Amino acid sequence: MLILGIETTCDETSVAVVEDGYKILSNIIASQETLHSEFGGVVPEIACRAHMESIITVIDRAVSSAGISFSDISAIAVANSPGLVGAILIGLTAAKSLAMSWDIPLIAISHIHAHLYSVNLCNKKVSYPLTGLIVSGGHTSLFFIEDELTYSLLGGTLDDAAGEAFDKVAKILGLGYPGGPKIDSISKDGDRNAVRFPRSYLSKGSLDFSFSGLKTAVLYHCYGVTGFVKNKGCTGLDTNVKSEKEIADIAASFQEAVIDVLVDKTISAFKLNSCTGNKRSSEGIVIGGGVARNSRLQAKLKEKVEEMAVPLYYPTPVLCTDNAAMIAGLAYHKFVRNDFAALSLEAIPSYTL
Ligand code: KG4
Ligand code: ZN
Repeated sequence: MLILGIETTCDETSVAVVEDGYKILSNIIASQETLHSEFGGVVPEIACRAHMESIITVIDRAVSSAGISFSDISAIAVANSPGLVGAILIGLTAAKSLAMSWDIPLIAISHIHAHLYSVNLCNKKVSYPLTGLIVSGGHTSLFFIEDELTYSLLGGTLDDAAGEAFDKVAKILGLGYPGGPKIDSISKDGDRNAVRFPRSYLSKGSLDFSFSGLKTAVLYHCYGVTGFVKNKGCTGLDTNVKSEKEIADIAASFQEAVIDVLVDKTISAFKLNSCTGNKRSSEGIVIGGGVARNSRLQAKLKEKVEEMAVPLYYPTPVLCTDNAAMIAGLAYHKFVRNDFAALSLEAIPSYTL
Protein backbone atom coordinates (compact mmCIF):
# COMPACT_ATOMS: atom_id res chain seq x y z
CA MET A 1 0.00 0.00 0.00
CA LEU A 2 1.34 3.42 -0.97
CA ILE A 3 0.98 6.50 1.20
CA LEU A 4 1.94 10.01 0.11
CA GLY A 5 3.30 12.08 3.02
CA ILE A 6 3.57 15.86 3.29
CA GLU A 7 5.87 17.76 5.67
CA THR A 8 5.88 21.57 5.93
CA THR A 9 6.14 22.21 9.69
CA CYS A 10 9.26 24.38 9.48
CA ASP A 11 11.65 25.23 6.66
CA GLU A 12 11.69 22.16 4.42
CA THR A 13 8.97 21.48 1.87
CA SER A 14 9.01 17.70 1.66
CA VAL A 15 6.80 15.10 -0.01
CA ALA A 16 7.42 11.35 -0.05
CA VAL A 17 5.88 8.09 -1.16
CA VAL A 18 6.38 5.11 1.17
CA GLU A 19 5.25 1.54 0.61
CA ASP A 20 3.77 -0.44 3.53
CA GLY A 21 5.35 1.79 6.17
CA TYR A 22 8.98 0.84 5.55
CA LYS A 23 10.07 1.15 1.92
CA ILE A 24 10.84 4.66 0.64
CA LEU A 25 9.94 5.05 -3.05
CA SER A 26 10.68 8.78 -3.08
CA ASN A 27 11.55 11.46 -0.52
CA ILE A 28 11.84 14.93 -2.08
CA ILE A 29 13.11 17.69 0.19
CA ALA A 30 13.14 21.33 -0.96
CA SER A 31 15.30 23.11 1.60
CA GLN A 32 14.84 26.81 2.36
CA GLU A 33 18.23 27.08 4.06
CA THR A 34 19.58 29.80 1.75
CA LEU A 35 16.45 31.94 2.22
CA HIS A 36 16.79 31.97 6.01
CA SER A 37 20.58 31.98 6.37
CA GLU A 38 20.97 35.75 6.05
CA PHE A 39 18.63 36.17 9.06
CA GLY A 40 20.41 33.55 11.18
CA GLY A 41 17.18 31.63 11.79
CA VAL A 42 13.84 30.64 10.27
CA VAL A 43 11.62 33.63 9.37
CA PRO A 44 8.02 32.29 9.52
CA GLU A 45 6.58 34.52 6.79
CA ILE A 46 9.39 33.64 4.38
CA ALA A 47 8.94 29.94 5.22
CA CYS A 48 5.20 30.07 4.44
CA ARG A 49 5.70 31.86 1.12
CA ALA A 50 8.41 29.41 0.08
CA HIS A 51 6.17 26.41 0.95
CA MET A 52 3.41 27.97 -1.16
CA GLU A 53 5.74 28.37 -4.11
CA SER A 54 7.14 24.86 -4.09
CA ILE A 55 4.48 22.51 -2.70
CA ILE A 56 2.83 21.60 -6.03
CA THR A 57 6.16 20.98 -7.77
CA VAL A 58 7.42 18.88 -4.85
CA ILE A 59 4.25 16.75 -4.90
CA ASP A 60 4.68 16.16 -8.65
CA ARG A 61 8.35 15.28 -8.25
CA ALA A 62 7.63 12.85 -5.39
CA VAL A 63 5.03 10.99 -7.44
CA SER A 64 7.08 10.88 -10.64
CA SER A 65 10.32 9.82 -8.99
CA ALA A 66 8.45 7.05 -7.14
CA GLY A 67 7.54 5.75 -10.61
CA ILE A 68 3.85 5.58 -9.78
CA SER A 69 0.72 7.40 -10.85
CA PHE A 70 -1.65 9.37 -8.61
CA SER A 71 -4.25 6.60 -8.71
CA ASP A 72 -1.83 4.17 -6.99
CA ILE A 73 -1.92 6.21 -3.77
CA SER A 74 -4.11 4.82 -0.95
CA ALA A 75 -3.95 7.70 1.56
CA ILE A 76 -2.50 11.16 2.21
CA ALA A 77 -0.54 11.72 5.41
CA VAL A 78 0.30 15.16 6.71
CA ALA A 79 2.28 16.55 9.65
CA ASN A 80 -0.32 18.78 11.35
CA SER A 81 1.68 19.39 14.57
CA PRO A 82 3.85 20.75 16.08
CA GLY A 83 5.50 23.57 14.14
CA LEU A 84 4.93 27.00 12.63
CA VAL A 85 1.19 27.23 12.24
CA GLY A 86 1.27 29.15 8.94
CA ALA A 87 3.76 26.70 7.48
CA ILE A 88 1.73 23.67 8.60
CA LEU A 89 -1.38 25.18 7.00
CA ILE A 90 0.23 25.09 3.54
CA GLY A 91 0.92 21.34 3.74
CA LEU A 92 -2.40 20.68 5.43
CA THR A 93 -4.37 22.50 2.75
CA ALA A 94 -2.54 20.62 0.00
CA ALA A 95 -3.15 17.28 1.83
CA LYS A 96 -6.86 17.97 2.32
CA SER A 97 -7.28 19.00 -1.32
CA LEU A 98 -5.64 15.79 -2.55
CA ALA A 99 -7.57 13.55 -0.14
CA MET A 100 -10.86 15.19 -1.11
CA SER A 101 -10.33 15.22 -4.85
CA TRP A 102 -8.99 11.65 -5.01
CA ASP A 103 -11.51 10.46 -2.40
CA ILE A 104 -8.92 8.71 -0.23
CA PRO A 105 -8.31 8.93 3.55
CA LEU A 106 -6.40 11.73 5.28
CA ILE A 107 -4.04 10.76 8.12
CA ALA A 108 -2.78 13.21 10.77
CA ILE A 109 0.81 12.71 11.93
CA SER A 110 2.81 14.24 14.77
CA HIS A 111 6.10 15.58 13.44
CA ILE A 112 7.79 14.55 16.71
CA HIS A 113 6.55 10.95 16.67
CA ALA A 114 7.54 10.76 13.00
CA HIS A 115 11.14 11.80 13.85
CA LEU A 116 11.29 8.93 16.32
CA TYR A 117 9.85 6.56 13.68
CA SER A 118 12.45 7.54 11.04
CA VAL A 119 14.86 4.80 12.02
CA ASN A 120 12.32 2.22 10.80
CA LEU A 121 13.00 3.46 7.27
CA CYS A 122 16.71 2.61 7.47
CA ASN A 123 16.47 -1.14 6.88
CA LYS A 124 16.99 -1.79 10.57
CA LYS A 125 14.92 -4.22 12.60
CA VAL A 126 13.65 -2.08 15.46
CA SER A 127 12.08 -3.75 18.45
CA TYR A 128 9.80 -1.87 20.82
CA PRO A 129 9.40 -0.68 23.57
CA LEU A 130 12.12 1.95 23.36
CA THR A 131 13.37 5.01 25.16
CA GLY A 132 13.34 7.88 22.66
CA LEU A 133 15.23 11.16 22.56
CA ILE A 134 14.05 13.79 20.09
CA VAL A 135 16.55 16.57 19.54
CA SER A 136 15.57 19.09 16.90
CA GLY A 137 15.47 22.82 16.29
CA GLY A 138 12.19 23.14 18.18
CA HIS A 139 12.15 20.21 20.62
CA THR A 140 14.26 18.32 23.11
CA SER A 141 12.19 15.62 24.79
CA LEU A 142 12.44 12.12 26.20
CA PHE A 143 9.76 9.48 25.67
CA PHE A 144 8.85 5.97 26.62
CA ILE A 145 7.72 4.50 23.28
CA GLU A 146 5.55 1.44 23.64
CA ASP A 147 5.06 0.89 19.93
CA GLU A 148 5.09 2.97 16.72
CA LEU A 149 2.04 4.98 17.86
CA THR A 150 2.12 4.96 21.68
CA TYR A 151 4.25 7.55 23.45
CA SER A 152 4.59 8.75 27.07
CA LEU A 153 6.41 12.02 27.60
CA LEU A 154 9.11 11.76 30.30
CA GLY A 155 10.67 15.22 30.04
CA GLY A 156 11.12 18.21 27.78
CA THR A 157 12.97 21.47 27.52
CA LEU A 158 12.02 24.33 29.82
CA ASP A 159 13.46 26.92 27.44
CA ASP A 160 15.64 26.52 24.31
CA ALA A 161 15.71 23.27 22.36
CA ALA A 162 19.14 21.72 21.75
CA GLY A 163 19.11 22.63 18.03
CA GLU A 164 18.09 26.19 18.86
CA ALA A 165 21.04 26.45 21.27
CA PHE A 166 23.39 25.15 18.54
CA ASP A 167 21.99 27.70 16.07
CA LYS A 168 22.24 30.62 18.50
CA VAL A 169 25.76 29.77 19.64
CA ALA A 170 26.84 29.45 16.00
CA LYS A 171 25.47 32.94 15.47
CA ILE A 172 27.46 34.24 18.45
CA LEU A 173 30.58 32.62 16.99
CA GLY A 174 29.84 34.06 13.53
CA LEU A 175 29.58 30.60 11.96
CA GLY A 176 26.33 31.11 10.03
CA TYR A 177 23.05 29.21 9.79
CA PRO A 178 22.08 26.43 10.38
CA GLY A 179 24.55 26.31 13.22
CA GLY A 180 24.37 22.66 14.28
CA PRO A 181 26.32 21.15 11.36
CA LYS A 182 28.85 24.02 11.49
CA ILE A 183 29.54 23.55 15.21
CA ASP A 184 29.73 19.78 14.72
CA SER A 185 32.33 20.17 12.01
CA ILE A 186 34.48 22.96 13.53
CA SER A 187 34.48 21.16 16.90
CA LYS A 188 36.59 18.40 15.36
CA ASP A 189 39.51 20.90 15.35
CA GLY A 190 38.79 22.16 18.86
CA ASP A 191 39.57 21.10 22.43
CA ARG A 192 36.33 20.09 24.14
CA ASN A 193 37.93 20.66 27.56
CA ALA A 194 39.16 24.18 26.77
CA VAL A 195 36.28 25.95 28.53
CA ARG A 196 34.21 24.34 31.29
CA PHE A 197 30.71 25.57 30.40
CA PRO A 198 27.86 24.79 32.84
CA ARG A 199 25.80 21.61 32.52
CA SER A 200 22.22 22.14 33.62
CA TYR A 201 20.78 18.98 35.20
CA LEU A 202 17.93 20.78 37.04
CA SER A 203 16.57 18.99 40.12
CA LYS A 204 17.78 15.50 41.07
CA GLY A 205 16.22 12.86 38.82
CA SER A 206 14.67 15.44 36.49
CA LEU A 207 14.38 14.40 32.84
CA ASP A 208 13.73 17.98 31.73
CA PHE A 209 16.29 20.09 29.90
CA SER A 210 17.41 23.71 29.95
CA PHE A 211 19.95 25.18 27.55
CA SER A 212 19.42 28.94 27.81
CA GLY A 213 21.92 29.34 30.69
CA LEU A 214 24.58 27.56 28.66
CA LYS A 215 23.90 29.82 25.68
CA THR A 216 24.29 32.89 27.92
CA ALA A 217 27.52 31.47 29.36
CA VAL A 218 28.94 31.22 25.82
CA LEU A 219 27.78 34.74 25.07
CA TYR A 220 29.49 36.18 28.15
CA HIS A 221 32.60 34.12 27.52
CA CYS A 222 32.88 35.61 24.03
CA TYR A 223 31.96 39.22 24.71
CA GLY A 224 32.27 39.65 28.45
CA VAL A 225 29.17 41.08 30.12
CA THR A 226 30.00 44.70 29.30
CA GLY A 227 31.00 43.88 25.72
CA PHE A 228 27.67 42.19 25.11
CA VAL A 229 25.68 45.13 26.49
CA LYS A 230 27.74 47.55 24.41
CA ASN A 231 27.11 45.55 21.22
CA LYS A 232 23.44 44.97 22.11
CA GLY A 233 23.32 41.66 20.34
CA CYS A 234 25.16 38.68 19.12
CA THR A 235 25.89 39.07 15.44
CA GLY A 236 29.42 37.74 15.26
CA LEU A 237 32.37 38.07 17.57
CA ASP A 238 33.66 41.17 19.27
CA THR A 239 37.38 41.66 19.87
CA ASN A 240 37.52 39.24 22.85
CA VAL A 241 37.77 36.18 20.65
CA LYS A 242 39.68 36.11 17.40
CA SER A 243 41.61 33.08 16.31
CA GLU A 244 40.02 30.15 14.52
CA LYS A 245 41.50 27.82 17.10
CA GLU A 246 39.84 29.80 19.88
CA ILE A 247 36.47 29.62 18.08
CA ALA A 248 36.88 25.87 17.54
CA ASP A 249 37.69 25.41 21.25
CA ILE A 250 34.58 27.32 22.32
CA ALA A 251 32.41 25.40 19.83
CA ALA A 252 33.78 22.04 21.00
CA SER A 253 33.41 22.97 24.68
CA PHE A 254 29.83 24.17 24.14
CA GLN A 255 28.96 21.03 22.17
CA GLU A 256 30.39 18.82 24.91
CA ALA A 257 28.24 20.56 27.54
CA VAL A 258 25.07 19.94 25.49
CA ILE A 259 25.98 16.34 24.66
CA ASP A 260 26.90 15.46 28.27
CA VAL A 261 23.42 16.45 29.45
CA LEU A 262 21.62 14.77 26.52
CA VAL A 263 23.52 11.52 27.00
CA ASP A 264 23.24 11.40 30.80
CA LYS A 265 19.50 12.11 30.80
CA THR A 266 18.82 9.62 28.00
CA ILE A 267 20.65 6.89 29.91
CA SER A 268 18.76 7.80 33.12
CA ALA A 269 15.44 7.64 31.23
CA PHE A 270 16.39 4.25 29.78
CA LYS A 271 17.28 2.89 33.23
CA LEU A 272 14.00 4.18 34.62
CA ASN A 273 12.07 2.62 31.73
CA SER A 274 13.80 -0.70 32.03
CA CYS A 275 12.69 -1.25 35.61
CA THR A 276 9.26 0.41 35.89
CA GLY A 277 6.55 -1.64 37.64
CA ASN A 278 3.64 -2.42 35.35
CA LYS A 279 5.04 -0.92 32.13
CA ARG A 280 6.74 -3.10 29.58
CA SER A 281 10.49 -2.68 29.75
CA SER A 282 12.46 -0.53 27.32
CA GLU A 283 14.64 -2.68 25.07
CA GLY A 284 16.79 0.00 23.51
CA ILE A 285 17.31 3.67 22.77
CA VAL A 286 16.28 5.57 19.65
CA ILE A 287 17.20 9.14 18.74
CA GLY A 288 15.74 11.41 16.06
CA GLY A 289 15.60 15.02 14.90
CA GLY A 290 18.26 17.24 13.32
CA VAL A 291 20.67 17.16 16.27
CA ALA A 292 20.65 13.34 16.11
CA ARG A 293 23.02 13.86 13.14
CA ASN A 294 25.63 15.23 15.54
CA SER A 295 28.76 13.08 15.38
CA ARG A 296 29.74 13.63 19.01
CA LEU A 297 26.22 12.77 20.28
CA GLN A 298 26.23 9.55 18.28
CA ALA A 299 29.76 8.63 19.42
CA LYS A 300 29.15 9.32 23.11
CA LEU A 301 25.79 7.54 23.20
CA LYS A 302 27.31 4.55 21.38
CA GLU A 303 30.06 4.35 23.98
CA LYS A 304 27.53 4.35 26.84
CA VAL A 305 25.09 1.84 25.32
CA GLU A 306 27.91 -0.55 24.42
CA GLU A 307 28.89 -0.64 28.11
CA MET A 308 25.29 -1.61 28.91
CA ALA A 309 24.88 -3.95 25.89
CA VAL A 310 21.74 -2.10 24.82
CA PRO A 311 20.79 -1.43 21.16
CA LEU A 312 21.00 2.16 19.94
CA TYR A 313 19.04 3.21 16.86
CA TYR A 314 19.64 6.40 14.94
CA PRO A 315 18.51 7.29 11.41
CA THR A 316 20.71 8.03 8.39
CA PRO A 317 21.58 11.77 8.18
CA VAL A 318 18.86 12.67 5.67
CA LEU A 319 16.23 10.96 7.82
CA CYS A 320 17.38 12.76 10.99
CA THR A 321 16.43 16.19 9.67
CA ASP A 322 12.94 17.10 8.42
CA ASN A 323 11.60 14.83 5.70
CA ALA A 324 8.23 13.50 4.54
CA ALA A 325 9.23 9.82 4.37
CA MET A 326 8.92 9.65 8.16
CA ILE A 327 5.39 11.10 7.88
CA ALA A 328 4.25 8.63 5.20
CA GLY A 329 5.97 5.71 6.99
CA LEU A 330 4.36 6.29 10.36
CA ALA A 331 0.97 6.89 8.69
CA TYR A 332 0.90 3.25 7.54
CA HIS A 333 0.46 2.15 11.17
CA LYS A 334 -2.53 4.48 11.52
CA PHE A 335 -3.94 3.27 8.20
CA VAL A 336 -3.99 -0.36 9.31
CA ARG A 337 -5.84 0.71 12.47
CA ASN A 338 -8.36 2.76 10.43
CA ASP A 339 -7.23 5.84 12.33
CA PHE A 340 -8.18 8.54 9.82
CA ALA A 341 -8.62 12.30 10.18
CA ALA A 342 -11.60 14.43 9.19
CA LEU A 343 -11.23 17.12 6.53
CA SER A 344 -11.71 19.63 9.35
CA LEU A 345 -8.28 18.63 10.74
CA GLU A 346 -6.52 21.58 12.36
CA ALA A 347 -2.94 22.82 12.42
CA ILE A 348 -1.64 22.57 16.00
CA PRO A 349 1.50 24.61 16.78
CA SER A 350 2.56 22.90 20.01
CA TYR A 351 3.25 19.28 20.85
CA THR A 352 0.36 17.17 22.11
CA LEU A 353 0.49 13.44 22.79
O1 KG4 B 1 14.61 18.18 12.95
P1 KG4 B 1 15.09 19.40 12.24
O2 KG4 B 1 15.47 19.24 10.78
O3 KG4 B 1 14.01 20.54 12.28
C1 KG4 B 1 13.14 20.73 13.37
O4 KG4 B 1 12.17 19.96 13.50
O5 KG4 B 1 13.46 21.67 14.14
O6 KG4 B 1 16.30 19.97 13.08
C2 KG4 B 1 16.98 21.13 12.70
C3 KG4 B 1 18.03 21.40 13.76
C4 KG4 B 1 18.74 22.73 13.56
O7 KG4 B 1 18.72 23.43 14.78
C5 KG4 B 1 20.15 22.32 13.16
O8 KG4 B 1 21.15 23.25 13.55
C6 KG4 B 1 20.30 21.00 13.90
O9 KG4 B 1 19.04 20.38 13.73
N1 KG4 B 1 21.35 20.14 13.35
C7 KG4 B 1 22.45 19.76 14.05
C8 KG4 B 1 23.25 18.99 13.17
N2 KG4 B 1 22.60 18.90 11.97
C9 KG4 B 1 21.44 19.61 12.11
N3 KG4 B 1 22.81 20.03 15.32
C10 KG4 B 1 24.00 19.53 15.74
N4 KG4 B 1 24.83 18.79 14.97
C11 KG4 B 1 24.49 18.50 13.68
N5 KG4 B 1 25.32 17.77 12.92
ZN1 ZN C 1 11.89 18.23 12.78
